[in-house]
Amino acid sequence: MTEPERRPTVAGTLMAHAPEETRVIGSRLATLLEPGDIVLLAGPLGAGKTELVKGVAEGLGVDEVVVSPTFTLAREYEGRLRLVHVDVYRLDTAQELLDLGLEDLADDGVMVVEWGDAVAGLLPPEHLEIAIDLADDESTRTLTFTPSGPSWGSRSAALGAVLGGG
Ligand SMILES: Nc1ncnc2c1ncn2[C@@H]1O[C@H](COP(=O)(O)OP(=O)(O)O)[C@@H](O)[C@H]1O
Ligand SMILES: [Mg+2]
Repeated sequence: MTEPERRPTVAGTLMAHAPEETRVIGSRLATLLEPGDIVLLAGPLGAGKTELVKGVAEGLGVDEVVVSPTFTLAREYEGRLRLVHVDVYRLDTAQELLDLGLEDLADDGVMVVEWGDAVAGLLPPEHLEIAIDLADDESTRTLTFTPSGPSWGSRSAALGAVLGGG
């Protein structure tokens, strides 16, 4: 008898005790990113979403300085893979998001969307969501990883290694 396939909704959580730790998590995650990946970042203002993207950029070998795309909505960077960094915080309508043509932007690159949980319904269902929670102290964050879809299922061991720190 074969074991039923296990595909947990939550892959795991990580604590980051300083901005540098959040960036290291991002750069470790970058090692397993593939073209077409979508990473949705959830969490309140100041949670560390942009900090995490800076780490992803570092891990992808992006030389440019990553700045928050809050006013520009989307910025692109060249690395091992093209990084498309989107922040939908200021979007008023779903149409504005559709106008950005995100699906095309992300085709051959990796798209990371701040406030992505708010627009998940408008994006392809396969993605990795990372929710960042603030603790009571200034500098501790909890990152909860929730992968969806077959390509993340097949990378669950690699993701587990990132989450396990090993
Ligand atoms: N563990 C941590 N991880 C990420 N950021 C942290 C952490 N501790 C403190 N910070 C600070 O919190 C702020 C996060 O800002 P930012 O990444 O722009 O948040 P967001 O994009 O979610 O609004 C930064 O000023 C950063 O220095
Ligand atoms: Mg931000």
